[in-house]
Amino acid sequence: MFKKLLVAVFGIGMAFGAAASIADNHADMGGCESCHADGMPSADLAHEAEQCAACHGGLADMDAVHAAHDGMMTCNDCHVSHEHESGADANASCDTCH
Ligand code: HEC
Ligand code: HEC
Ligand code: HEC
Ligand code: HEC
Repeated sequence: MFKKLLVAVFGIGMAFGAAASIADNHADMGGCESCHADGMPSADLAHEAEQCAACHGGLADMDAVHAAHDGMMTCNDCHVSHEHESGADANASCDTCH
């Protein structure tokens, strides 16, 4: 799993675009460290969640679909950072609860 992810990260990194993952798009702007301390994920992803909010604001500050889940969820519950076509993925998450 770990090895496969790194292959995906480095493979796709050369051809980012509309279908690139959130992580690839952000790594291109600011490197892995823009989300991960020392470039690697924390055990509980709390640091990563703080980083999203530091740049984008919290759920309460965003539009309706985001504000409806304030205090209940982190960004990563709907946006899977290392998955591709991230927009479609966020929309697909609704069915798991509603
Ligand atoms: C936009 C923020 C962001 C960036 C930039 C980012 N990551 Fe991540 N990463 C995450 C989040 C959030 C997770 C938790 C799982 C997920 O969402 O895919 C994660 C998970 C991981 C994992 C664990 C995957 C697993 O399946 O357990 C590894 C390894 C990783 N990232 C490495 C990297 C590397 C290397 C880079 C730079 C090329 C990078 N990340 C860039 C947010 C980011
Ligand atoms: C260092 C600042 C920074 C951090 C940290 C950051 N973002 Fe972003 N993000 C941006 C900027 C800048 C853009 C591009 C402009 C825009 O769309 O707002 C962006 C774009 C996005 C987009 C739309 C484009 C895409 O790649 O799909 C999503 C979704 C997103 N961010 C989610 C996240 C999530 C989730 C996290 C935490 C895991 C995160 N961001 C962390 C600055 C950041
Ligand atoms: C309840 C699920 C959910 C949660 C939680 C959530 N989002 Fe979203 N987000 C969405 C959906 C759905 C869209 C619309 C995606 C689309 O149409 O491409 C979206 C869109 C976005 C966009 C604009 C993407 C673009 O392509 O322009 C950004 C940026 C973003 N979210 C950031 C965040 C951040 C940062 C957090 C955490 C603070 C977060 N989201 C938490 C569901 C969620
Ligand atoms: C992890 C579970 C989960 C996911 C995924 C999720 N939701 Fe929710 N959502 C909730 C919970 C819990 C509430 C608060 C209880 C309620 O009002 O039903 C809520 C509330 C809402 C509300 C407000 C309802 C009201 O009556 O005020 C809307 C609208 C909504 N969600 C839409 C969405 C959409 C659209 C998506 C996908 C982008 C989504 N949700 C993803 C769990 C989730």
